[in-house]
Amino acid sequence: MNLRSGDVDTFDTSWRIRPETKRYHFKRGKPDHQVQFAFQNHWRVFRSILGNVRSGVALEVGAGRGSMAAFFADAGFDTCLLDTSATALASGRYNFERDDLSASYIVGDVLRLPFDDNSVDVITSIGLMEHFDDVRTPCAEQIRILKPGGVLLNYIVPERAISVQTLAIPINLLLRLIHWLGQVIGGKKRATPPAKPALYRNEYDSKHYLEIYRSLGLDDVGSYGTFPMPLVSHSYDFPFSPMSPDAEKVLMACWRVLLGIYGAISGRDPWTCPERWGLAFVVWGKKSREEGD
Ligand SMILES: C[S@@+](CC[C@H](N)C(=O)[O-])C[C@H]1O[C@@H](n2cnc3c(N)ncnc32)[C@H](O)[C@@H]1O
Repeated sequence: MNLRSGDVDTFDTSWRIRPETKRYHFKRGKPDHQVQFAFQNHWRVFRSILGNVRSGVALEVGAGRGSMAAFFADAGFDTCLLDTSATALASGRYNFERDDLSASYIVGDVLRLPFDDNSVDVITSIGLMEHFDDVRTPCAEQIRILKPGGVLLNYIVPERAISVQTLAIPINLLLRLIHWLGQVIGGKKRATPPAKPALYRNEYDSKHYLEIYRSLGLDDVGSYGTFPMPLVSHSYDFPFSPMSPDAEKVLMACWRVLLGIYGAISGRDPWTCPERWGLAFVVWGKKSREEGD
């Protein structure tokens, strides 16, 4: 087991045993909960970076259940999900079929991508790169297969003691207590989910990735902090767990108002924020077109 190259075994175990990994966050139209809301916002910002790249081959590496890849497939890209975990990909296929989306599914490693040089229009990853200590190698593979004019978007969730999520700790503890009391009073016996396996996460910031991108030949590059709202949930060890439908509706209404105010004051897309504040950051780059292209 190589703990610093994607934590492959730990993820595979997680996909097999943890109940929350069955959830999928793509939704057309109105989102049902905060995580779908977040993914719709991720997609809106991605679209603005993609510019006029609106079709062609889109590959999500470390695609898992395919939440982000689904937006590409829904927008008409010829989409491919690649992951080391066959279990995760089976869940992605199930989700796609249910949503009438088509894609190809490859059990593979981002360190040895089974694609020709210059063959993919868009490459993305969500929550993958922070699980490597050597991030140069997966970046080099991504850039190798990216077409001239193509776009690379890595969404990274770094290890951090303090971020916007810190604000939600007291709220989440209170919600957990209420949830637990509700179960005790209601006499419901809750099955304890298997323990969450520990994952390696690096602490690199966007500067580290941007240097790598530039040294590997991407000249049009950039980054932004993102996910400026904390996850609010009764689930202590997995705050991506949605609450009741009514609670989620209220929460999303609050978020819309706050993001509207923040966007008006800051003049930026409200889903982007300073890197130290957000739950994640995105490092993107476009591959130069070769002369004559
Ligand atoms: C945090 S999960 C993200 C899953 C997915 N992007 C999502 O949002 O649901 C990271 C994924 O990367 C996969 N992974 C880990 N190491 C990998 C590698 N070397 N190559 C390809 N996928 C890898 C794991 O199996 C896992 O599905």
